[in-house]
Amino acid sequence: MANVIVIGAQWGDEGKGKITDLLSRSADVVVRSQGGVNAGHTVVVSGQTFKLHLIPSGILYPDTQCIIGSGTVIDPEVLIEEMEQLKALDVTTDNLHISQTAHVTMPYHRSIDMASEERRGDYKIGTTGRGIGPTYADKSERTGIRVLDLMDSKRLHEKLTWTINYKNVILEKLYNLPPLDEKEVIEEYLKYADYLRPYVIDSSLEIYQAVQKKKNILFEGAQGTLLDLDHGTYPYVTSSNPIAGGACVGSGIGPTIIDRVIGVAKAYTTRVGEGPFPTELSGDVGEQLGNRGAEFGTTTGRKRRCGWFDAVIGRYAVRINGLDCLAITKLDVLDELAEIKVCTAYEINGETCNHFPSNASDFADCQPVYQTLPGWQQDTTHCQSLEELPPQALNYLKFLAELMEVPIAIVSLGPGRNQTIIVEDPIHGPKRALLGADGVPVSA
Ligand code: GDP
Ligand code: IMO
Ligand code: MG
Repeated sequence: MANVIVIGAQWGDEGKGKITDLLSRSADVVVRSQGGVNAGHTVVVSGQTFKLHLIPSGILYPDTQCIIGSGTVIDPEVLIEEMEQLKALDVTTDNLHISQTAHVTMPYHRSIDMASEERRGDYKIGTTGRGIGPTYADKSERTGIRVLDLMDSKRLHEKLTWTINYKNVILEKLYNLPPLDEKEVIEEYLKYADYLRPYVIDSSLEIYQAVQKKKNILFEGAQGTLLDLDHGTYPYVTSSNPIAGGACVGSGIGPTIIDRVIGVAKAYTTRVGEGPFPTELSGDVGEQLGNRGAEFGTTTGRKRRCGWFDAVIGRYAVRINGLDCLAITKLDVLDELAEIKVCTAYEINGETCNHFPSNASDFADCQPVYQTLPGWQQDTTHCQSLEELPPQALNYLKFLAELMEVPIAIVSLGPGRNQTIIVEDPIHGPKRALLGADGVPVSA
């Protein structure tokens, strides 16, 4: 039995959806704890692609309970569309549950997100435009609408009448946008409430009861460590806490129930939206990684910025999340390269720095210090064990494990379920992964 947190160790899109789906076959419950429809998690099964925004990536297993936890923000229109799309593909959503204390994204959140980005001009964050920041801002300001409110038509009328009047002043006076008609919005949201009512639960209690029954619970992170509101590259971050601690807060469980934390990291780095990115590649190699890795956003379709693996942010992710082990994804994307660089440290104002600087302006000034490794220039997409990997690919993995000082438990070599080497099963296996932090495959 193990309760496992899966989190993104970089700037999002690390392949959390694929890894969560893979581990879900051993999980009884899968929980999303934070974020909203800014997330885009891709799961590929038998050639069919599923793009999930709010629904946990365990949904393809009908016996696995999937919970959208209280720390998430829910756009009911997008959620219902996602549920309908799954049903059309014969995937049941009877195993889906929604926390009654999650906050609800409203039309004014989306409008304000987009209008404020435009107003910021050169200082824009490059958000997904899905209303995430404004929904979390209302939660902090204590003017948010929760799923509980949505389920109670009298309370929804009262709260939305007041809130829409207030938001209309902002829309009209600050952003020159047309006001919202409160009756239309209330009517629309009451329809969503009717659709979602059967799925609404007290999620913290449900998860606690699963803990008491010694079920395997998987907590699926959204976004990534460097997008964390408190510990990421502020202000170029999202408005929630994608780090491991956020999974406890957003699920309403205590940290003592967590057995393991897995960090998912690509074998290189990508970032969508604005903000500093020391190892970003602007030339041909960046294009090559983007094309071979199909690096276009799952949610917005935006081209992802690509760069070399950055072990400084990797070590930071190990520290901030207390990572036990890593899942390294998209190793196959490096298959054609003759040489591969890895950032081992930064240089700031002529000084070498091994740690992530929490000062944003220092981070923007960081110059990567690279070590170059030989590529393998062979197809790895069919490899099923570490022994089948070309020696240079295994050396590359060992080098990453050494630099990050944590073992690698999973290596992913393609989007499909079977394109994966499970070095050690993070749910059933021993605490220590077989490809050790010293890089030596213990099994060999
Ligand atoms: P998430 O947001 O962390 O779940 O990641 P995304 O789904 O947004 O982006 C990861 C993309 O890479 C998806 O298109 C996956 O299907 C794909 N992918 C995942 N693992 C691998 C891998 O090992 N190799 C390749 N080539 N693609 C992968
Ligand atoms: P998954 O779960 C990558 C980025 C946006 C922007 C910043 C703030 O698929 O890894 P927001 O709309 O959240 O206010 O945007 O965060 N961002 C992501 N980047 N993957 C994601 O999710 C992201 N969710 C938000 O591009 O830079
Ligand atoms: Mg994604």
